Amino acid sequence: MNIKIAVIGLGYVGLPLARLFATKFPVVGFDINEQRISELNNGIDLTLEVEEDLLKSVLKSQNSSSSNYLLCSNKLEDIADCNYYIVTVPTPVDKHNKPDLTPLYKASETVAKVLKKGDIVIYESTVYPGVTEEECVPVLEKLSGLKFNFDFFAGYSPERINPGDKEHTVDKILKVTAGSTLEIGQKVDALYKSVITAGTHLAPTIKVAEAAKVIENSQRDINIAFVNELAKIFNILDINTQDVLEAAGTKWNFLPFKPGLVGGHCIGVDPYYLAQKAMEAGYHPEIILAGRRMNDSMGEYVASEVVKLMIKKEIVLHKAELLLLGVTFKENCPDVRNTKIVDIVHSLKEYGINITIYDPWAKPEEVLHEYGIVCHSELNNETKYDAVVLGVSHEVFNELNIGSLTKENNVIYDVKGFLSTEVDGRL
Ligand SMILES: NC(=O)c1ccc[n+]([C@@H]2O[C@H](COP(=O)([O-])OP(=O)(O)OC[C@H]3O[C@@H](n4cnc5c(N)ncnc54)[C@H](O)[C@@H]3O)[C@@H](O)[C@H]2O)c1
Repeated sequence: MNIKIAVIGLGYVGLPLARLFATKFPVVGFDINEQRISELNNGIDLTLEVEEDLLKSVLKSQNSSSSNYLLCSNKLEDIADCNYYIVTVPTPVDKHNKPDLTPLYKASETVAKVLKKGDIVIYESTVYPGVTEEECVPVLEKLSGLKFNFDFFAGYSPERINPGDKEHTVDKILKVTAGSTLEIGQKVDALYKSVITAGTHLAPTIKVAEAAKVIENSQRDINIAFVNELAKIFNILDINTQDVLEAAGTKWNFLPFKPGLVGGHCIGVDPYYLAQKAMEAGYHPEIILAGRRMNDSMGEYVASEVVKLMIKKEIVLHKAELLLLGVTFKENCPDVRNTKIVDIVHSLKEYGINITIYDPWAKPEEVLHEYGIVCHSELNNETKYDAVVLGVSHEVFNELNIGSLTKENNVIYDVKGFLSTEVDGRL
């Protein structure tokens, strides 16, 4: 059988995957965002995950004679003759931190409209165990009129990419795979094995693969929450947390986690998916939700630490100018989704401090639209600041001469333990 793949949702996860599959198969990348489709067809990826040359090397428009290609489209007819559908749409939480499966339902409706006998629908979005078979498959069955595991099949293969990380790219990360039957599991596994050089792990069931993904991120969240708690304790005890972690890290089985803000659409969100499913089943998760509460409190905590340091140095808060370095949720990446830097901004503003945010990676219009916050892509070198807070460790901040940006009496706070200059405080 000739394989033709549709990837539904061309974001941080879908685009690199579609590009990779297009080196071996004909691939149609489908997205509802018309502007994104037009940018991608011109070789432009604003998430900066796929470089222009690499993208253009597989685009159908640039390689019309090749039988393997990537066509980006928002038209249903372009995915009608595919036989593998891979869904990579977002799985956010709502304002009450409850899983919002709307994009998954919508994407399933799209696939259902073109679903045919023998097709396999693979979900990659991070979910709680049961979503593929109990939430998505019924949508596929209802709208297509086809019968699950008889006419069509399902698979699950969670994504493990790390945006901005040019070393651990999609092909170099071992991929967990699963299918709705034994035979389909092997087919799904073979499909991924053909492009993932790091290899695959075929899980026994879809639920196992779903659960495996969601606990990877929950484990990170809890470990970070623990070191965040340590940072709070050691600050009270006037002990340097980094020194403690360095000393403890000399033991072979001490895990090297660092305190910090937990933002983005994965680590800070996925534990809520697991918690929701647990609560539906009658179990109230204690550790998972305690970790979330701890990590969500860190923005306000950083702001209060900075304010204490400013007061100690007799800096008048409502007249103070503070420079905040970085607004994205992580370093060397333009992604501002669910960034916890905004918690620092809101808390500092409550003290009347005037804040200038500088981030050469973030798109100022996106930050304004998402958070109502002004951020700058360039630094105005004339202003001298009373305080500088490094919130994100973008490599470019290494080149800054912090001393030349500050007034004589100043506070420098380093959330990430990144600056080489002497600082007044750090997490
Ligand atoms: N970003 C990461 O680091 C990462 C890592 C591992 C797993 N994940 C998971 O992968 C999934 C996708 O995340 P992402 O970061 O790529 O999201 P994203 O927001 O970057 O991209 C999602 C894309 O899907 C499109 N889309 C939304 N609804 C659609 C629909 N109904 N039909 C077609 N396209 C639609 C959007 O326009 C967008 O381009 C999520 O479940 C996420 O938790 C993300």
